[in-house]
Amino acid sequence: MADTGMTLAEEARAKAYATPLDEFQVHDIGHFTSDTLWPWFERLRKEDPVHYTADSEYGPYWSITKYMDIVACESDVARLSSSQKHGGITMFEPPEGSDPEQRSEARANFIALDPPRHDAQRKVVAPIFSTPSLQEMEPLIRSRAAAILDELPIGEEFDFVDKVAVELTSQMLATLFDFPFEQRRILPKFSDLLLSGPADTLEENQARQAEMFMTLNLFIPLWNERAARSTGGDLISLLANNPATHGDHNPQNYMSNIILLIVAGSDTTRHSITGGLLALNQHPGEYAKLRANPALLESAVPEIIRWQSPVAYMRRTALDDIEMGGKTIKKGDKVAMWYVSGNRDDDAIERPNEFIIDRARPRQHAAFGFGIHRCLGQRLSEMQLRVVWEEMLKRFPVIEVVGEPTRLTSNFVKGFTKLPVRIPA
Ligand code: HEM
Repeated sequence: MADTGMTLAEEARAKAYATPLDEFQVHDIGHFTSDTLWPWFERLRKEDPVHYTADSEYGPYWSITKYMDIVACESDVARLSSSQKHGGITMFEPPEGSDPEQRSEARANFIALDPPRHDAQRKVVAPIFSTPSLQEMEPLIRSRAAAILDELPIGEEFDFVDKVAVELTSQMLATLFDFPFEQRRILPKFSDLLLSGPADTLEENQARQAEMFMTLNLFIPLWNERAARSTGGDLISLLANNPATHGDHNPQNYMSNIILLIVAGSDTTRHSITGGLLALNQHPGEYAKLRANPALLESAVPEIIRWQSPVAYMRRTALDDIEMGGKTIKKGDKVAMWYVSGNRDDDAIERPNEFIIDRARPRQHAAFGFGIHRCLGQRLSEMQLRVVWEEMLKRFPVIEVVGEPTRLTSNFVKGFTKLPVRIPA
């Protein structure tokens, strides 16, 4: 409850509807840490779905907030670029004076490339996300999930993010990379460091850089060993043995795809695991339905992912003038496609503001993007969420959320750093 006697959500709604549209700053990280982003996007969808923010810490940018407009943007690969050389997929600008090489396509990973280089590199790692490969991985993911759950304390409070979500996703990443299992926790740590906002001091920044550098260094001997072996179906072997991705075996060139896969695989699934538990606690009727019928996981998993939308937006850069929603996006403009808003668009999704684990078309959502960059890990993350929930439901009728979540300080990845829970004795 805020000072006004209104709840935080009511206060945010009043503010969002009282603020002139040209003063909107939907990217404001405060909206994300307090979970008050919803009325701002709701108003844009209704009144100004293709919205221009003239001034922000990222400079001017467009917000695409309706589901079908996001689909249209993602289909227009020729005019809306993901390329690192135009600025890549986030709104951040490189710090002044930073190495221009960082913008070179040779150093970009494939999420930040346009065709044809994007397509050639994506194809290299696609086999590990295929149905047979996922089927092969599932028993291992299940046994590792079971081992984590069997160790959880009963009757006492613990942090679900640390003990379950991060642990499970580190194990999955270690499996995908065939990375030393005992060192797995440095993988999500790397992702946290990379995505954390600007450091407070120069020393802190240097310390972070050093830690990230150390993590990446661990990949070099693994890469050399897998390149020499030239078989192997893990991600490092796939990348190291294909000319489209091996970058002349120069770490400066090949490391970017390793970074992409660490970050893409670590945060998204982790926040969906946590977001699912929070949503089920906030909707006890849905939790009861799932307990009574675990087969509902088939639709509950995509609903959890829609509800969480762990990737809030992706950016594109206009390579030409584009007409959309009666506006002209000018060549060179930055465009943010807000998946988090598209997932609450009632022209595309029925009763989008309700969490319904058995909705009729649960896969009608924008959380994985669309088109040529559509998430490669979609089925892997869905499988992981299903397996984790199957194993949790078998063991614990309920895991209670016993305090407020702490949300990530980010408007790009929408997630949590802490969620206090207890398993009743
Ligand atoms: C709930 C979990 C996940 C969500 C919501 C998610 C979401 C996304 C989104 C929004 C994109 C960009 C799509 C676009 O631009 O159209 C993306 C791309 C990607 N994701 Fe995921 N992701 C998830 C899990 C994973 C996992 C587990 C992996 C792998 C370990 C992964 C690997 C990738 C890769 C490699 C790309 C780049 C694809 C490309 O550019 O062609 N993702 N993901």
